[in-house]
Amino acid sequence: MYCTRNISEHIHWIGGNDRRLALFENLFPIPNGVSYNSYLIMDEKTALMDTVDASISRLFFENVDHVLNGRTLDYLIVNHMEPDHCANIDELVRRYPDMKVVGNAKTLQFFNQFYHMDLEGRTVIVKENDTLNLGAHTLRFLMAPMVHWPEVMISYEESEKVLFSADAFGTFGAPGGTVFNDEIDFDRDWLEDARRYYSNIVGKYGPQVQAVLKKASSLDIRIICPLHGPIWRTDLEYLIGKYDKWSRYEPEDICAAIFYGSMYGDTENAADHLAALLAEAGVKSRVYDVSKTHMSYLISEAFRCSHLVFAAPTYNNGLYPAMESFLLDMKALNLQNRTAAIIENGTWAPQAGKIMREHLGGMKGMAVLEPSLTIRSSMKESQADDMKALAQAIAESIAEKQ
Ligand SMILES: Cc1cc2nc3c(=O)[nH]c(=O)nc-3n(C[C@H](O)[C@H](O)[C@H](O)COP(=O)(O)O)c2cc1C
Ligand SMILES: [Fe+2]
Ligand SMILES: [Fe+2]
Repeated sequence: MYCTRNISEHIHWIGGNDRRLALFENLFPIPNGVSYNSYLIMDEKTALMDTVDASISRLFFENVDHVLNGRTLDYLIVNHMEPDHCANIDELVRRYPDMKVVGNAKTLQFFNQFYHMDLEGRTVIVKENDTLNLGAHTLRFLMAPMVHWPEVMISYEESEKVLFSADAFGTFGAPGGTVFNDEIDFDRDWLEDARRYYSNIVGKYGPQVQAVLKKASSLDIRIICPLHGPIWRTDLEYLIGKYDKWSRYEPEDICAAIFYGSMYGDTENAADHLAALLAEAGVKSRVYDVSKTHMSYLISEAFRCSHLVFAAPTYNNGLYPAMESFLLDMKALNLQNRTAAIIENGTWAPQAGKIMREHLGGMKGMAVLEPSLTIRSSMKESQADDMKALAQAIAESIAEKQ
């Protein structure tokens, strides 16, 4: 049975949810599922805005048929040529012989790479600021390269002031039938997933997101229709504010996150000790085991928090592998401008601190607080003052930023 929602009299949501998939991109856990949004504009001409993932094709075609109600499809606009949104293009091309596929030159190049179908005579190639008139509705195309693929574009519908934003403003999570942001408690139930989606998937491309936000700021936008997660028709400033902060690599919260790796529990003990001292100094922190918590959550917390503590053992003259992977991922995702603190452990020749410092030195705007702390196997009472000094340095730095 179809499941669609009206965004307005002429614009319809025809997407769907996947709650069975365990890992998005076969990488990121999605305990709350994911949704793939597609939209249909009904005017003198009909236009479909992107398609959906292969996992929900059956529902998608029921939705398309339901909204078209016997009419044909004139255009398919491909804002993003990634398989989670493109899986049904070839089937649409077969079903609707008069349908034109609208994309930029790169979109069509990627189509030819993914699919084995000749679109000769079936394409409309658009560039920055080109428009497509559907009758009362007009779509304007704006390029959004590297948010997060090179062919990405966003489409602005001028009469109803709707922005079809591709993956930008998307989130993990399956809203089910409650597709509008005012039908859910986003801040309570969705923000973590949205931050985790942004930081891990789009996080590397802050400057490109800033460029899109600049383009968007010149438009009068009433509704944002992303390719994943809820449709935004209220509180647009809230969402745009989050994106602005994330893409400038500014922390959302002035607080500490303590990330530790530990084989036998002694580095863990030091991390807990620090959290206790921070709490007594009135500083909020959360402690994460880098071996237990999926990296995507760690990255998300690193984007959220202003102060990041890294505590890890030395391992075969190197750094504990789970911590090393985390720091490499942070660098790959371009995280910048945080205050860090370091605790290292080692039984015969501690190296972890030096290596963590080198990794942080390779990222932009990472300030490492002094003193850092070296534990030899386990923390000793004689080090209590050193740990207090570290906690105090963090607390003072946090107070300065508040
Ligand atoms: C496989 C392995 C390799 C290690 N390599 C080193 C090393 O190269 N240098 C060193 O000082 N300690 C090394 N250690 C010792 C740990 O860093 C040390 O035991 C530390 O106290 C472990 O902290 P934890 O209790 O938090 O796991 C190694 C331990 C293991 C299990
Ligand atoms: Fe994508
Ligand atoms: Fe996507």
